[in-house]
Amino acid sequence: SGDGDPVVSSPETTSALEAASRVLHDRRPVVFPTETVYGLGALALNSRAVSQIFSTKGRPPDNPLIVHVSSRAMLSSVLPKGYQISRLNELLIGRFWPGPLTLLFPCDPTIVPSIVTAGQPTVAIRMPSHVVARALIAGTGAPLAAPSANSSGKPSPTRAEHVLQDLGEKVDLILDGGPCDVGVESTVVDALHEDGNVRILRPGGVTVEDIEALVSKMYPHNENKPQVLVHRRDYQDEAIEHAPTTPGMKYRHYSPSVPVTLLYTTTDPPPDQQSIAASDFLSSLLDSSRPIVIPRVGLLASDESPLVRIAESSYGIQWVYRSLGPADNPAIAAQRLFDGLLSLEKDGVTQILVEEVKEVKEGLAFMNRIRKAAGASVWIRIV
Ligand code: TXA
Ligand code: MG
Repeated sequence: SGDGDPVVSSPETTSALEAASRVLHDRRPVVFPTETVYGLGALALNSRAVSQIFSTKGRPPDNPLIVHVSSRAMLSSVLPKGYQISRLNELLIGRFWPGPLTLLFPCDPTIVPSIVTAGQPTVAIRMPSHVVARALIAGTGAPLAAPSANSSGKPSPTRAEHVLQDLGEKVDLILDGGPCDVGVESTVVDALHEDGNVRILRPGGVTVEDIEALVSKMYPHNENKPQVLVHRRDYQDEAIEHAPTTPGMKYRHYSPSVPVTLLYTTTDPPPDQQSIAASDFLSSLLDSSRPIVIPRVGLLASDESPLVRIAESSYGIQWVYRSLGPADNPAIAAQRLFDGLLSLEKDGVTQILVEEVKEVKEGLAFMNRIRKAAGASVWIRIV
């Protein structure tokens, strides 16, 4: 459960954590692993420390940060005095914390500085489950504001090497916790709305199916049962879509430095789009003006993908293939997405092709991220 702080006993780890805490108390950011992606953390209650997160990432100041806590007591300390957490939020905390779920709470700006919330009336909070993250927060004795540890607009890092490559020059300390289990960011949930429904602002490591199952179990009678609404599928958030001063979904995101194309292999094209035969698509990758140059193309696709077979039998392209795992396991696809984009970029490919994943469970977060990362989408006819 979310109570109590973890104990990390390896002396090597302990001294690394102590060094990281000293940097943090010096009001400088450090990079640390979480179960979702690596975070760039700083003391959440100190404006000067938090401002360095924004400058290090080149992050727009109107995109608010998530505050990370390691215990229920620490959660209470950042909420308005005397605030009663609703039954719905208590259920979500009890079921999913510590873990990849971020919840919104009302913000008292005399406690959480407005640079963290970008002036929003709410503050986003999560309790990570990664043992290093929790030990760092507990040992530092203070909540940490932490976005993903990438330059703004780039894919989120899921390994310490990714951070070193991107922000290595700009940060003082990176705690290496190995590869992240979940591989995409936390699910951001707004359960504060007066209609009693649960709004998924960003799909992530906790699936909509998991949240629906909890709601069905805890509200067995249909009366008063909260609905689980997914942003852009069940509702549009006008404030987020149009107002210049509200959060981060409006920004281009998650893109490596080479072009990314999303390939639909089973979904039909929308009315205003046409599908293209696989062989014609492959020919389009060849540069007819420079027939001597063999393009090096990255392919992220499932183990059973017909694209892999078609690529293998094609001429004139050097393929760099990375597996998204079995087609029926969206958790593995999500875990490998950012890692795949970043390692293909490092492999020196000139472009990256990513096969669609079915939009169930973690596949929802996968498709949400890749749609934002991809500059183009193509509907392929497999013949
Ligand atoms: O898994 C994660 O959440 C990772 C790790 C490091 O914990 N962190 C992360 O942070 O993904 P970041 O900054 O990359 O994404 C935070 C998201 C943004 O989409 C932001 O707009 C949203 O949370 N957010 C933060 N505060 C909010 C608020 N008060 N209301 C609505 N959305 C908020
Ligand atoms: Mg991010």
